Amino acid sequence: MNICGVEWKNPVATAAGVFVCAESSKYFDPAALGAVTTKGVSAEPWAGNPTPRIAETPSGMLNAVGLENPGVDAYIAGELRTLKERGATVVANAAGHSEDEYVEVCRRLDATDVDMIELNVSCPNIREGGMAFGTDARTVERLTKKVRSITDKPLIVKLSPNVTDITECAVAAERAGADALSLINTMLGMRIDRGTGKPVLANLTGGLSGPAIRPIAVRMVYETARSVSIPIIGMGGIMTGDDALEFLLAGASAVEVGTAALIDPSAPVRVSRELNELLSDPLIAEVLDEARRKRPKAFC
Ligand SMILES: Cc1cc2nc3c(=O)[nH]c(=O)nc-3n(C[C@H](O)[C@H](O)[C@H](O)COP(=O)(O)O)c2cc1C
Repeated sequence: MNICGVEWKNPVATAAGVFVCAESSKYFDPAALGAVTTKGVSAEPWAGNPTPRIAETPSGMLNAVGLENPGVDAYIAGELRTLKERGATVVANAAGHSEDEYVEVCRRLDATDVDMIELNVSCPNIREGGMAFGTDARTVERLTKKVRSITDKPLIVKLSPNVTDITECAVAAERAGADALSLINTMLGMRIDRGTGKPVLANLTGGLSGPAIRPIAVRMVYETARSVSIPIIGMGGIMTGDDALEFLLAGASAVEVGTAALIDPSAPVRVSRELNELLSDPLIAEVLDEARRKRPKAFC
Protein backbone atom coordinates (compact mmCIF):
# COMPACT_ATOMS: atom_id res chain seq x y z
CA MET A 1 0.00 0.00 0.00
CA ASN A 2 0.99 3.60 -0.50
CA ILE A 3 0.88 6.30 2.20
CA CYS A 4 1.71 9.79 0.87
CA GLY A 5 3.95 8.33 -1.84
CA VAL A 6 5.77 5.93 0.49
CA GLU A 7 5.40 2.18 0.00
CA TRP A 8 4.22 0.35 3.14
CA LYS A 9 4.24 -3.47 3.02
CA ASN A 10 1.08 -3.55 5.14
CA PRO A 11 -1.06 -1.08 7.13
CA VAL A 12 0.61 -1.66 10.54
CA ALA A 13 3.48 0.33 12.09
CA THR A 14 4.94 0.69 15.55
CA ALA A 15 3.85 3.78 17.51
CA ALA A 16 6.55 6.21 18.65
CA GLY A 17 8.17 5.40 21.97
CA VAL A 18 7.90 1.61 22.16
CA PHE A 19 10.35 0.47 19.47
CA VAL A 20 14.12 0.28 19.98
CA CYS A 21 15.84 -1.57 17.14
CA ALA A 22 18.40 -3.44 19.25
CA GLU A 23 15.65 -4.80 21.55
CA SER A 24 12.58 -5.05 19.32
CA SER A 25 14.37 -6.76 16.44
CA LYS A 26 15.04 -9.76 18.71
CA TYR A 27 11.30 -10.40 18.38
CA PHE A 28 10.52 -9.42 14.77
CA ASP A 29 12.06 -8.16 11.57
CA PRO A 30 11.38 -4.39 11.44
CA ALA A 31 11.24 -4.61 7.63
CA ALA A 32 8.20 -6.91 7.92
CA LEU A 33 6.01 -4.06 9.16
CA GLY A 34 4.39 -1.30 7.12
CA ALA A 35 6.74 1.11 8.91
CA VAL A 36 8.63 1.60 12.12
CA THR A 37 7.99 4.88 13.96
CA THR A 38 10.89 5.69 16.24
CA LYS A 39 10.99 7.50 19.60
CA GLY A 40 10.77 11.31 19.50
CA VAL A 41 14.07 13.05 18.74
CA SER A 42 15.10 16.60 19.62
CA ALA A 43 18.00 18.75 18.39
CA GLU A 44 20.16 18.02 21.45
CA PRO A 45 20.15 15.02 23.81
CA TRP A 46 17.21 15.14 26.26
CA ALA A 47 17.32 13.39 29.66
CA GLY A 48 13.58 12.83 30.06
CA ASN A 49 11.70 13.06 33.36
CA PRO A 50 12.67 11.83 36.85
CA THR A 51 11.46 8.42 38.03
CA PRO A 52 9.00 6.87 38.79
CA ARG A 53 7.66 7.57 35.34
CA ILE A 54 5.48 4.54 34.58
CA ALA A 55 2.34 3.37 36.40
CA GLU A 56 -0.22 0.68 35.62
CA THR A 57 -3.91 1.61 35.33
CA PRO A 58 -7.08 -0.38 34.60
CA SER A 59 -6.79 -1.46 30.94
CA GLY A 60 -3.78 0.73 30.32
CA MET A 61 -0.78 2.56 31.68
CA LEU A 62 0.44 6.04 32.48
CA ASN A 63 3.84 7.12 31.25
CA ALA A 64 5.78 10.28 31.93
CA VAL A 65 9.02 9.23 30.26
CA GLY A 66 9.32 12.67 28.67
CA LEU A 67 11.21 12.84 25.42
CA GLU A 68 14.36 11.07 26.55
CA ASN A 69 16.56 10.70 23.48
CA PRO A 70 20.20 10.98 22.39
CA GLY A 71 19.61 13.96 20.05
CA VAL A 72 18.94 13.94 16.32
CA ASP A 73 22.58 13.56 15.18
CA ALA A 74 23.10 10.42 17.30
CA TYR A 75 19.72 9.13 16.09
CA ILE A 76 20.69 9.62 12.44
CA ALA A 77 24.07 7.91 12.89
CA GLY A 78 22.65 5.07 15.01
CA GLU A 79 18.99 3.98 15.05
CA LEU A 80 18.05 5.42 11.65
CA ARG A 81 21.12 4.01 9.91
CA THR A 82 20.60 0.53 11.39
CA LEU A 83 16.92 0.47 10.46
CA LYS A 84 17.56 1.61 6.88
CA GLU A 85 20.33 -1.02 6.51
CA ARG A 86 17.75 -3.60 7.64
CA GLY A 87 15.35 -2.46 4.90
CA ALA A 88 12.73 -0.93 7.20
CA THR A 89 10.45 1.94 6.22
CA VAL A 90 11.18 4.55 8.89
CA VAL A 91 9.01 7.32 10.29
CA ALA A 92 11.09 9.69 12.48
CA ASN A 93 9.11 11.27 15.32
CA ALA A 94 10.35 14.86 15.73
CA ALA A 95 10.11 16.84 18.97
CA GLY A 96 11.35 20.15 20.36
CA HIS A 97 11.30 22.69 23.19
CA SER A 98 10.57 25.50 20.75
CA GLU A 99 9.31 26.02 17.21
CA ASP A 100 12.88 26.72 16.07
CA GLU A 101 14.02 23.41 17.54
CA TYR A 102 11.30 21.48 15.67
CA VAL A 103 12.41 23.16 12.46
CA GLU A 104 16.07 22.37 13.16
CA VAL A 105 15.34 18.68 13.88
CA CYS A 106 13.32 18.38 10.67
CA ARG A 107 16.00 20.19 8.66
CA ARG A 108 18.56 17.61 9.80
CA LEU A 109 16.16 14.73 9.12
CA ASP A 110 15.44 16.15 5.67
CA ALA A 111 19.09 15.57 4.72
CA THR A 112 18.80 11.81 5.48
CA ASP A 113 17.09 8.85 3.84
CA VAL A 114 14.34 8.74 6.47
CA ASP A 115 11.05 7.90 4.72
CA MET A 116 8.63 10.15 6.61
CA ILE A 117 8.65 12.71 9.41
CA GLU A 118 6.03 12.67 12.16
CA LEU A 119 5.74 15.99 13.98
CA ASN A 120 4.98 15.24 17.62
CA VAL A 121 3.04 18.30 18.71
CA SER A 122 1.16 16.25 21.28
CA CYS A 123 3.44 14.83 24.00
CA PRO A 124 1.70 15.54 27.35
CA ASN A 125 4.82 14.87 29.45
CA ILE A 126 7.03 17.88 28.83
CA ARG A 127 6.72 21.41 30.08
CA GLU A 128 7.83 23.11 26.87
CA GLY A 129 6.96 21.97 23.38
CA GLY A 130 4.89 18.83 22.80
CA MET A 131 1.27 19.22 23.84
CA ALA A 132 1.75 22.95 24.44
CA PHE A 133 1.93 23.25 20.63
CA GLY A 134 -0.67 20.65 19.76
CA THR A 135 -3.67 21.97 21.67
CA ASP A 136 -3.95 25.29 19.84
CA ALA A 137 -4.99 25.12 16.20
CA ARG A 138 -3.20 28.37 15.28
CA THR A 139 0.08 27.08 16.72
CA VAL A 140 -0.32 23.73 14.95
CA GLU A 141 -0.85 25.60 11.69
CA ARG A 142 2.12 27.94 12.17
CA LEU A 143 4.52 25.17 13.19
CA THR A 144 3.39 22.82 10.42
CA LYS A 145 3.86 25.63 7.88
CA LYS A 146 7.40 26.34 9.13
CA VAL A 147 8.39 22.68 8.92
CA ARG A 148 6.64 22.28 5.56
CA SER A 149 8.75 25.09 4.14
CA ILE A 150 12.04 23.29 4.86
CA THR A 151 11.26 19.70 3.87
CA ASP A 152 9.69 17.80 0.99
CA LYS A 153 9.63 14.58 3.03
CA PRO A 154 6.12 13.25 3.63
CA LEU A 155 5.00 15.10 6.76
CA ILE A 156 2.67 13.54 9.32
CA VAL A 157 1.33 15.73 12.14
CA LYS A 158 0.57 13.75 15.31
CA LEU A 159 -2.45 15.19 17.10
CA SER A 160 -3.24 15.47 20.79
CA PRO A 161 -6.52 14.10 22.18
CA ASN A 162 -6.33 16.60 25.06
CA VAL A 163 -8.58 19.10 23.29
CA THR A 164 -12.31 19.77 23.06
CA ASP A 165 -12.48 19.38 19.27
CA ILE A 166 -9.63 17.49 17.59
CA THR A 167 -10.87 18.41 14.13
CA GLU A 168 -9.80 22.06 14.62
CA CYS A 169 -6.13 21.03 14.86
CA ALA A 170 -6.61 18.44 12.10
CA VAL A 171 -7.97 21.01 9.66
CA ALA A 172 -5.22 23.49 10.65
CA ALA A 173 -2.49 20.91 9.98
CA GLU A 174 -4.00 19.98 6.61
CA ARG A 175 -4.28 23.65 5.63
CA ALA A 176 -0.61 24.18 6.54
CA GLY A 177 0.53 21.40 4.21
CA ALA A 178 0.62 18.21 6.29
CA ASP A 179 0.54 15.12 4.07
CA ALA A 180 -1.08 12.94 6.74
CA LEU A 181 -2.27 12.99 10.33
CA SER A 182 -1.63 10.50 13.10
CA LEU A 183 -3.83 10.21 16.19
CA ILE A 184 -4.08 9.85 19.06
CA ASN A 185 -1.20 10.57 21.38
CA THR A 186 -1.74 9.74 25.07
CA MET A 187 -4.45 11.33 27.25
CA LEU A 188 -3.36 13.35 30.25
CA GLY A 189 -3.96 11.36 33.45
CA MET A 190 -2.87 10.96 37.06
CA ARG A 191 -2.68 8.38 39.85
CA ILE A 192 -2.38 9.05 43.58
CA ASP A 193 -0.94 6.53 46.03
CA ARG A 194 -3.48 6.12 48.81
CA GLY A 195 -0.74 5.05 51.27
CA THR A 196 1.30 8.25 50.92
CA GLY A 197 -1.36 10.56 49.50
CA LYS A 198 1.18 11.57 46.86
CA PRO A 199 1.09 11.31 43.08
CA VAL A 200 2.55 8.01 41.84
CA LEU A 201 4.53 9.65 39.04
CA ALA A 202 7.40 12.02 39.86
CA ASN A 203 6.09 14.22 37.03
CA LEU A 204 2.69 14.26 38.84
CA THR A 205 0.79 13.59 35.60
CA GLY A 206 1.39 11.24 32.70
CA GLY A 207 -0.04 10.09 29.41
CA LEU A 208 -2.67 7.35 29.47
CA SER A 209 -2.37 4.70 26.75
CA GLY A 210 -3.62 1.19 26.03
CA PRO A 211 -7.14 -0.27 25.60
CA ALA A 212 -8.58 2.28 28.09
CA ILE A 213 -8.29 5.01 25.44
CA ARG A 214 -9.33 2.97 22.39
CA PRO A 215 -12.98 4.10 22.15
CA ILE A 216 -11.85 7.73 22.45
CA ALA A 217 -9.24 7.19 19.73
CA VAL A 218 -11.77 5.51 17.41
CA ARG A 219 -14.19 8.40 17.94
CA MET A 220 -11.48 10.96 17.17
CA VAL A 221 -10.34 9.12 14.03
CA TYR A 222 -13.97 8.94 12.89
CA GLU A 223 -14.51 12.68 13.44
CA THR A 224 -11.18 13.63 11.83
CA ALA A 225 -11.82 11.42 8.80
CA ARG A 226 -14.94 13.44 8.13
CA SER A 227 -13.11 16.77 8.44
CA VAL A 228 -9.98 16.36 6.29
CA SER A 229 -9.12 14.54 3.07
CA ILE A 230 -5.50 13.56 3.82
CA PRO A 231 -4.69 10.02 5.10
CA ILE A 232 -5.03 9.26 8.80
CA ILE A 233 -2.86 6.87 10.79
CA GLY A 234 -4.90 5.70 13.77
CA MET A 235 -3.69 4.47 17.14
CA GLY A 236 -4.71 4.10 20.75
CA GLY A 237 -5.06 0.78 22.53
CA ILE A 238 -4.72 -1.51 19.51
CA MET A 239 -4.05 -5.02 20.88
CA THR A 240 -5.40 -7.25 18.08
CA GLY A 241 -6.10 -7.30 14.35
CA ASP A 242 -9.77 -6.81 15.21
CA ASP A 243 -8.95 -3.57 17.04
CA ALA A 244 -6.89 -2.40 14.05
CA LEU A 245 -9.83 -3.13 11.72
CA GLU A 246 -12.05 -0.90 13.85
CA PHE A 247 -9.68 2.03 13.17
CA LEU A 248 -9.70 1.32 9.41
CA LEU A 249 -13.51 1.28 9.49
CA ALA A 250 -13.45 4.62 11.32
CA GLY A 251 -11.48 6.10 8.40
CA ALA A 252 -7.79 5.38 9.07
CA SER A 253 -5.56 4.31 6.17
CA ALA A 254 -3.09 2.61 8.53
CA VAL A 255 -2.55 2.02 12.25
CA GLU A 256 0.22 2.07 14.83
CA VAL A 257 0.70 -0.28 17.78
CA GLY A 258 2.16 1.16 20.99
CA THR A 259 1.42 -0.10 24.50
CA ALA A 260 0.63 -3.64 23.27
CA ALA A 261 4.33 -3.98 22.35
CA LEU A 262 5.30 -3.32 25.97
CA ILE A 263 3.29 -6.39 27.01
CA ASP A 264 4.15 -8.56 24.00
CA PRO A 265 7.14 -7.21 22.02
CA SER A 266 6.00 -9.05 18.88
CA ALA A 267 2.49 -7.49 19.04
CA PRO A 268 2.98 -5.23 15.97
CA VAL A 269 3.66 -8.20 13.65
CA ARG A 270 0.93 -10.30 15.28
CA VAL A 271 -1.59 -7.45 14.79
CA SER A 272 -0.45 -7.16 11.17
CA ARG A 273 -0.93 -10.90 10.59
CA GLU A 274 -4.36 -10.92 12.27
CA LEU A 275 -5.48 -7.86 10.31
CA ASN A 276 -4.33 -9.44 7.06
CA GLU A 277 -6.37 -12.57 7.85
CA LEU A 278 -9.45 -10.46 8.57
CA LEU A 279 -9.04 -8.45 5.36
CA SER A 280 -8.86 -11.64 3.31
CA ASP A 281 -12.49 -12.32 4.27
CA PRO A 282 -14.52 -10.97 1.29
CA LEU A 283 -17.38 -9.84 3.55
CA ILE A 284 -15.06 -7.75 5.73
CA ALA A 285 -13.23 -6.39 2.66
CA GLU A 286 -16.58 -5.28 1.22
CA VAL A 287 -17.62 -3.50 4.43
CA LEU A 288 -14.24 -1.72 4.51
CA ASP A 289 -14.49 -0.73 0.84
CA GLU A 290 -17.91 0.74 1.50
CA ALA A 291 -16.55 2.74 4.48
CA ARG A 292 -13.65 4.00 2.35
CA ARG A 293 -15.79 5.09 -0.58
CA LYS A 294 -16.88 7.99 1.66
CA ARG A 295 -13.38 9.55 1.64
CA PRO A 296 -11.86 8.53 -1.70
CA LYS A 297 -9.08 11.16 -1.73
CA ALA A 298 -7.35 9.65 1.30
CA PHE A 299 -7.14 6.25 -0.34
CA CYS A 300 -6.12 7.08 -3.91
C1 LIG B 1 6.31 4.60 26.91
C2 LIG B 1 5.71 5.44 25.82
C3 LIG B 1 6.51 6.37 25.15
C4 LIG B 1 5.96 7.17 24.13
N1 LIG B 1 6.77 8.04 23.46
C5 LIG B 1 6.25 8.79 22.43
C6 LIG B 1 7.10 9.64 21.65
O1 LIG B 1 8.31 9.72 21.84
N2 LIG B 1 6.49 10.39 20.66
C7 LIG B 1 5.15 10.31 20.39
O2 LIG B 1 4.66 11.00 19.48
N3 LIG B 1 4.34 9.46 21.09
C8 LIG B 1 4.86 8.71 22.09
N4 LIG B 1 4.05 7.85 22.79
C9 LIG B 1 2.62 7.76 22.43
C10 LIG B 1 2.35 6.56 21.49
O3 LIG B 1 3.10 6.66 20.31
C11 LIG B 1 0.84 6.44 21.16
O4 LIG B 1 0.42 7.61 20.49
C12 LIG B 1 -0.04 6.26 22.38
O5 LIG B 1 0.62 5.50 23.38
C13 LIG B 1 -1.38 5.58 22.05
O6 LIG B 1 -1.19 4.31 21.46
P1 LIG B 1 -1.18 2.93 22.33
O7 LIG B 1 -2.40 2.96 23.22
O8 LIG B 1 -1.18 1.84 21.30
O9 LIG B 1 0.08 2.96 23.15
C14 LIG B 1 4.57 7.05 23.81
C15 LIG B 1 3.78 6.10 24.49
C16 LIG B 1 4.32 5.30 25.47
C17 LIG B 1 3.44 4.29 26.17
